[in-house]
Amino acid sequence: MPAMLYSLVRPLLFSLDPETAHALTLKGADLLGGLLGSAIPPQPVRVMGLEFPNPVGLAAGLDKNAEHIDALAAQGFGFIEVGTVTPRPQPGNPKPRIFRLPRANALINRFGFNNVGVEAFLANVARARWRGILGINIGKNFDTPLERAADDYVHCLERVYAAAGYVTINISSPNTKGLRGLQEKSELDALLGRIAASREGLADRHGKRVPLVLKVAPDLEGPQIADIAGAVRTHRIDAVIATNTSLSRVGVESLPHGAEQGGLSGAPIKARATAVLAALARELAGEVPLIGAGGILHGADAVEKVAAGASLVQLYTGLVYRGPDLIAECAAALARR
Ligand SMILES: Cc1cc2nc3c(=O)[nH]c(=O)nc-3n(C[C@H](O)[C@H](O)[C@H](O)COP(=O)(O)O)c2cc1C
Repeated sequence: MPAMLYSLVRPLLFSLDPETAHALTLKGADLLGGLLGSAIPPQPVRVMGLEFPNPVGLAAGLDKNAEHIDALAAQGFGFIEVGTVTPRPQPGNPKPRIFRLPRANALINRFGFNNVGVEAFLANVARARWRGILGINIGKNFDTPLERAADDYVHCLERVYAAAGYVTINISSPNTKGLRGLQEKSELDALLGRIAASREGLADRHGKRVPLVLKVAPDLEGPQIADIAGAVRTHRIDAVIATNTSLSRVGVESLPHGAEQGGLSGAPIKARATAVLAALARELAGEVPLIGAGGILHGADAVEKVAAGASLVQLYTGLVYRGPDLIAECAAALARR
């Protein structure tokens, strides 16, 4: 998108409630995406056995139902992650469920995995013409008991396997009760064991091994990070995304909407997300690639993630505050590095 354009459109969008602005932006992108799109000079990176045209991706949650893949791809992303999708459709939490904190370049959301369910989601994926690397982020339905969570993940994995460039196992959203408990050692070991076994069968059946990526929270302590790294190694997970949104309110407590429930994203979580990324990099010692997300608002933030151990980065909140030019800015900063 031409650099000026988003700065003109942003005040209009910010005058609307965030969920309406979000829907309107994506509708506009569907109509105009090809015209307003940007080409990013190729800077191929090989990660998880896949060739990424550039290292800057779209984080999950912006296109939960995989309805806008072509318009988003036209913005120049090196890869696009859609979802989180669950086995059955579900409405998510009551509105309002997303809040802007502009003074902090942050958002708080408690969407709660609103999505059309994996079958309708796959029909949307099938309609996209883009043939780039599509990550599909999977989760559990809110009303599936936690002890049966693995059934939901395995069901989604089986259904999305053929369509996915990689599959992300999301156990780190704060808006599904108990989900983050799946990051605990014994739960994680059992869950990844089931998922990894399912992947082996699928790889044989489909004649391709689709990479599995684990997405973790920023609100983790050292011992938990070590346990997660252990489970990632044991079950041969192909990459880790650090991180999802945060339950912390440090730096935003006193701001309007700062006390809303949900996951905090954007600038205030950058340091914590990068610390978790760096800790994972130490634990995994270059054996398992990492994808850095959380608080990338400028090219320099993307460089920080790579310096901390990331091979790829993902954007969400930065796109809301900076517009799609942020993609090229990050790609250029990483190319210069
Ligand atoms: C409104 C919103 C919805 C999100 N939904 C999802 C989701 O469905 N699944 C997921 O794994 N992450 C979701 N995320 C987390 C982002 O993918 C990303 O990990 C996080 O926001 C940190 O990056 P950021 O600071 O650049 O936004 C969501 C984030 C936001 C702001």
